Amino acid sequence: MNRALGYILTSLVLLTSFGVSFAQTATTETTLHDFMEDYTDPIAKKAKKGDKAAQAALERILKEVPNYALDDQKARWKEIGETAIAKGDLQSSCKSCHKEYKREYKKSYRKRPIQVSNELISFLKGSK
Ligand code: HEC
Repeated sequence: MNRALGYILTSLVLLTSFGVSFAQTATTETTLHDFMEDYTDPIAKKAKKGDKAAQAALERILKEVPNYALDDQKARWKEIGETAIAKGDLQSSCKSCHKEYKREYKKSYRKRPIQVSNELISFLKGSK
């Protein structure tokens, strides 16, 4: 192969893999409250109407949300999401988790920052 072409191709491969890994690791800082209002709520409303893509997106949210929990609550948040998915009733997770955690979280952690991957955000934006 022509050497110059080889260099160009190698550079392209390197740049592409750098770009992909950057996109996967980049995150956006927000709060749980804003994540709920901006994504969970509108997607849950659409899912309720039977929209399949929104139902898949909501399931993904339930799997991701424990990553945003306080360390000692992660396991329980995961369980709440898994129970709702197993029942095939994603909407039941909202009440379960809010009843146990919302009041306290809002009172003490309303401004606590969470990091949401940009990959998840762009996926969810397409499902709203
Ligand atoms: C595993 C826990 C968990 C699950 C599941 C969950 N939420 Fe939340 N949600 C919270 C917490 C904690 C807050 C309080 C955040 C704050 O105010 O700082 C909250 C706040 C909200 C808010 C902000 C307004 C308000 O009522 O205070 C909305 C809207 C919301 N959730 C919608 C939903 C919907 C819809 C679902 C179900 C599809 C859902 N959430 C599932 C934990 C959860």
